[in-house]
Amino acid sequence: MTQTKIAVIGGSGLYDIEGMTGAKWTQVSTPWGAPSDDILTGELDGVPMAFLPRHGRGHVHSPTTVPYRANIDALKRLGVTDVISVSACGSFREEMAPGDFVIVDQFIDRTFAREKSFFGTGCVAHVSVAHPTCPRLSKACHTAATDAGITVHDGGTYLAMEGPQFSTLAESKMYRTSWGADVIGMTNMPEAKLAREAELCYASVAMITDYDSWHPDHGEVDVTQIIQTLMGNADKGRDLVRRLPAMLGPERAPCPHGCDRALDFAILTQPD
Ligand code: ADE
Repeated sequence: MTQTKIAVIGGSGLYDIEGMTGAKWTQVSTPWGAPSDDILTGELDGVPMAFLPRHGRGHVHSPTTVPYRANIDALKRLGVTDVISVSACGSFREEMAPGDFVIVDQFIDRTFAREKSFFGTGCVAHVSVAHPTCPRLSKACHTAATDAGITVHDGGTYLAMEGPQFSTLAESKMYRTSWGADVIGMTNMPEAKLAREAELCYASVAMITDYDSWHPDHGEVDVTQIIQTLMGNADKGRDLVRRLPAMLGPERAPCPHGCDRALDFAILTQPD
């Protein structure tokens, strides 16, 4: 058994965790540069917790400039075992309405201007991301959301776009019809891939803020609309997070899905 340490990477609208004891902001350095911000560490229900604001306090990093490798590496260095990503997204499905949450289980990665791997020169590794999220952690998030009275969808495909502009109408229609995406956002990739390379369990809680631009009865998405929905959602997000430590417990067995052993058969480079 190892000690559970839960990290929450908070997106737009979630800038802290409520109720932590011994909370303090810690500076962590990594070989990949500085993370988005200092990391808030403390305890909740006897479980060590870490909170990292993905865009930094004051929202200073765009989805493209978020230092994803430094963020995941910093969490790993702090001894984190489980990463919960919380982020805003647009919806491609009528039944997935603004205000609802989705526990994402698949991604289509359309980002192209970000560093996506810890591996490359010197050490080459290819991890599987066929199942990019941890089913055990995702289930806990789903249960926590349900218990918090949130309308939550169990599974969904998240299209990660580069941004910073939103999609064109033609893209929005293509993603939902031909590509089968359920939601769209700008930040879960390469975060999820890097978490797998770092052998961390990763779950994605996506808070729907809008219908992107495809919906004939809704105008195209803009930031005002996103902020408005997020204001209503932030408390729900905090409530969900608040329930997780008691649910996951202070100790954990090896991940039944192997997230914590992802590198066992992934490294090609011969050791020195
Ligand atoms: N984040 C929130 N809504 C979004 C949208 N429609 N497209 C991309 N990112 C988003």
